[in-house]
Amino acid sequence: MSARTTRGLEKSVVLVGMMGAGKSWVGRRLAVRLGVTFTDADAEIEAAAGCSIEDIFELHGESAFREGERRVIARILDGPPIVLATGGGAFMESETRDKIRQCATSIWLRTDIEALLKRVARRNNRPLLKNGDPREILERLLAERTPAYELADITVDSDTSGRDTTVETVLAALARHGEIDTPPKRDGKNTARA
Ligand code: S3P
Repeated sequence: MSARTTRGLEKSVVLVGMMGAGKSWVGRRLAVRLGVTFTDADAEIEAAAGCSIEDIFELHGESAFREGERRVIARILDGPPIVLATGGGAFMESETRDKIRQCATSIWLRTDIEALLKRVARRNNRPLLKNGDPREILERLLAERTPAYELADITVDSDTSGRDTTVETVLAALARHGEIDTPPKRDGKNTARA
């Protein structure tokens, strides 16, 4: 076990959870602390498709988006270990969930409705929130998706305590899970990873 601080992260860390859970924000900081690359699955899907997620939904529909999402996430996870933030629906797809289970450690950033609502209000480019009341949509999606999110390897609450605390909690959970030795310090002095 003690040799682990000198070894790189062996498996990718994949953040799952609802829109507005803070996956990208937390993922970026987590990657810095772990000394690996951060990748945002949605940004990769947009790059692969050559258009925005809104346009993919509008022009080709949600099932085409899910197909692209599945392919892009599988390709990313075949590469070297990274921190990957996934879109809120990715972990609902059983094939994607299996791929994540095989190749990575999954972390559900569990967030309550009030925190989600506050955070999704900052952006208006989420196609699933466009046709109706965001509270109703998020409540429905959260209820539908919670059983799948619960299958993640690790669950971390990401609503009340602030995002910096969430990053620390995720690092501590990864250490408990045996994916890293001790959580790397903020100054990066004991990171030595990847
Ligand atoms: C979606 C969440 C979005 C994006 C797409 C669909 C979802 O990502 O993938 O709009 O199904 O919840 P974020 O979770 O990063 O907002």
